Amino acid sequence: MSDDEPVVSVLGLGAMGTALAEALLATGHRTTVWNRTAEKADPLVARGAARADTAADAIIASRLVVVCLLDYDSVSQVLAPHTDVLAGRTLVNLTNGTPGQARRMAAWAADHGADYLDGGIMAVPPMIATPAAFLLYSGPSGVFEKSRPVLDVFGESVYLGSDPGMAALHDLALLSGMYGTIMGALQAFAMVRSAGVPTTEFAPLLSRWMGSMGGWPAAAAEQIDKGDYRDGVVSNLAMQAAAYPNFRAAAEELGISFELLAPLHSLMRRRVADGHGHEDLTGVIELLKK
Ligand SMILES: NC(=O)c1ccc[n+]([C@@H]2O[C@H](COP(=O)([O-])OP(=O)(O)OC[C@H]3O[C@@H](n4cnc5c(N)ncnc54)[C@H](OP(=O)(O)O)[C@@H]3O)[C@@H](O)[C@H]2O)c1
Repeated sequence: MSDDEPVVSVLGLGAMGTALAEALLATGHRTTVWNRTAEKADPLVARGAARADTAADAIIASRLVVVCLLDYDSVSQVLAPHTDVLAGRTLVNLTNGTPGQARRMAAWAADHGADYLDGGIMAVPPMIATPAAFLLYSGPSGVFEKSRPVLDVFGESVYLGSDPGMAALHDLALLSGMYGTIMGALQAFAMVRSAGVPTTEFAPLLSRWMGSMGGWPAAAAEQIDKGDYRDGVVSNLAMQAAAYPNFRAAAEELGISFELLAPLHSLMRRRVADGHGHEDLTGVIELLKK
């Protein structure tokens, strides 16, 4: 491969893959792109990207191959027919998946002579290449360091160690926090909307209240790591469990569903019934062990 050839290939030009390729082009990287639906590459080619007609051509074109497809099934469908061209390549798979899927993909890549980094993108496409974006990576540190100058184009690179499953673990954990927050916010909006309050009027109050909760993760994590939910309790579980039925009753009064909040209610009741009412709500995590 000569210095004149593209140095990065991007497989997958959905909303995210397109944003990644745009960021590479904007920073002067010679970039080859491939997508199952070929015409999605047209705007990138107009901006200077090289078009690969096949996934194999894209893999051959660059030592660093960024993969951003819908899910691991699509990654397997795209890569599996091209094991003969993987040797010597570094695959950076930014497709959402589980830690187990990432570890199996890393082993599969190694079997075919490719280095492998798994990644999780903590950004939506418009955030790529802005200071707001951070991306999680795991896999061999040498491979990460070698790839880092390119990866830093997408956003801050956060390296989580050599176990390839760590990026997916942290990605899904952070997204779990996000979805929990969105669930609560949707319930809040449904409540005020049912009473005729414009949600745009309510949103600033909700943002302020969510901001007030910003210290919760650090305090909860202290208790969880100690396994002691009795320290520094200011809002004990029994009190919270006594108030929680009001959310169900209010939902009934307002004619809206309680299904988003119901699961926490049953966990709180079980924890109180087990004798932990004087402790913090954080202790509910003990009921999540299987
Ligand atoms: N968008 C976000 O906000 C965001 C944020 C963080 C992480 N992510 C992750 O980034 C990845 C891509 O997301 P996206 O937003 O780009 O999704 P998207 O816009 O729906 O694009 C999906 C991409 O996967 C391709 N694809 C799907 N099935 C395929 C198959 N069987 N064979 C070949 N190609 C296939 C699509 O090709 P076609 O164009 O041919 O359909 C397209 O390139 C996902 O894992 C997502 O979870 C997304």
